[in-house]
Amino acid sequence: MSKILVNSSGPLHGEVEISGAKNSVLPLLAATILTDQTCIIEGVPDLVDVNVMKKMLRNYGSEIDDSEPGVIRAQMKEVASCEGDADLVQEMRASVFTMGPMLARYGKVIMPLPGGCTIGKRPIDLHLKGFRALGAEVIEDVENERVIVSAEPGTIKGDAIYLDFPSVGATENIMMTATLANGTTIIENAAKEPEIIDLANLLNKMGARIKYAGTDMIRIEGVKKLSGCIHAVIPDRIETGTFMLAAAITRGDILIKNALPGHVRPIIAKLKECNVKVDLLPEGIYVDARDRELIATDIKTLPYPGFPTDIQSPFMAFLTTVKGQSIVRETVFENRFMHVVELNRMGADISTQNREAVVPGSKQLKGARVRATDLRAGAAMVLAGLVAKGTTEISEIYHIERGYENFVNKFKGLGADIMKIERD
Ligand code: EPZ
Repeated sequence: MSKILVNSSGPLHGEVEISGAKNSVLPLLAATILTDQTCIIEGVPDLVDVNVMKKMLRNYGSEIDDSEPGVIRAQMKEVASCEGDADLVQEMRASVFTMGPMLARYGKVIMPLPGGCTIGKRPIDLHLKGFRALGAEVIEDVENERVIVSAEPGTIKGDAIYLDFPSVGATENIMMTATLANGTTIIENAAKEPEIIDLANLLNKMGARIKYAGTDMIRIEGVKKLSGCIHAVIPDRIETGTFMLAAAITRGDILIKNALPGHVRPIIAKLKECNVKVDLLPEGIYVDARDRELIATDIKTLPYPGFPTDIQSPFMAFLTTVKGQSIVRETVFENRFMHVVELNRMGADISTQNREAVVPGSKQLKGARVRATDLRAGAAMVLAGLVAKGTTEISEIYHIERGYENFVNKFKGLGADIMKIERD
């Protein structure tokens, strides 16, 4: 069983290069299903989730060339199977992002239900509502825990779809299906995350006609066929926020290169509220927390452009060390405080009620054996371990490796006393 050991590391210092965004590259790869030509995706991070998506595409019949580091050449000449692999779907729920492209290209997709995960039930009802609105038949085969979505050739038609919640995945799935629909689709109350814009840019390079991505109303005019393209993935805004917090929690200073400040404005704003210095330089985002008294602030997660839920747990780890009490509210997922138990093992003394956590602050954390309860909580435990007295041993680190490229080495490069070990 792999684990990460972290010792108290003192202020981190140096430069770190941000990798391509996990939550962008996954829908981008799914979109390659929409054409029989080759799509070249550049800036691809080396992640477990990317490997799972490559397997999903190969199972559908895609030819994947990943011989060049950081580049994936994908070509779905013809679809060999319309059924998602159940084991892969269980391993990565983002596999459901292949439903929309398969429906649009092939007219049928059978997808095992992804089930919930530690942060919530994570249903796909809004995805299915979108497919039905575009004219597909959706059969929820509860007995076999799968859903069958199909449409006769040429019957996918544009329509207006209102999303009850600005779901990122539902927006992406519907947008991809609508590119090959008859007529125009309007997605109302659409998600506005940068990853939506990145996907729309790729689709438009393929010949789609998408307007207003990044706003809460996206317009997609269907076309007959899409072609191949070359596209580079945007930098990972959540990895960017994670390393900004690494500087803050260790009272160090880090230059974060290849980061887009426009994608992390809530994190910049909140760190400044805590009296952390953040400068936007030509070389990147410079975060300096040296010799400064840092103070508490409150956090409330919201869909973009609000404070990102994926940074909630790393930011909470940081808040345990600043002067004063903080309130953290999680409004996006119903169960995203699993990391509180782990932080409390380290002496954080956090209390929670429903979706609200009270973080007393001013704590000297102590090393402990803790778990990574989800991808981002794992990152939070590494951050806490950097400032805890003694050694912190983090288990279930496969979560971390799903979404952070070269995570341990990037921290080592900043002076962290951290290592990955194999230990039962
Ligand atoms: C994406 O998940 C991200 N994953 C998540 O990142 C991120 O936390 C989330 O968006 C919110 O920003 C990828 O992009 C691969 P949602 P997604 O649909 O699309 C409810 C990480 O750590 N909902 O916006 O699944 C849902 O239960 C991961 O990188 C429905 O009720 O998120 C949740 O409470 C974690 N019905 C809320 O909406 C639906 O049909 C937000 O979900 C769909 C969603």
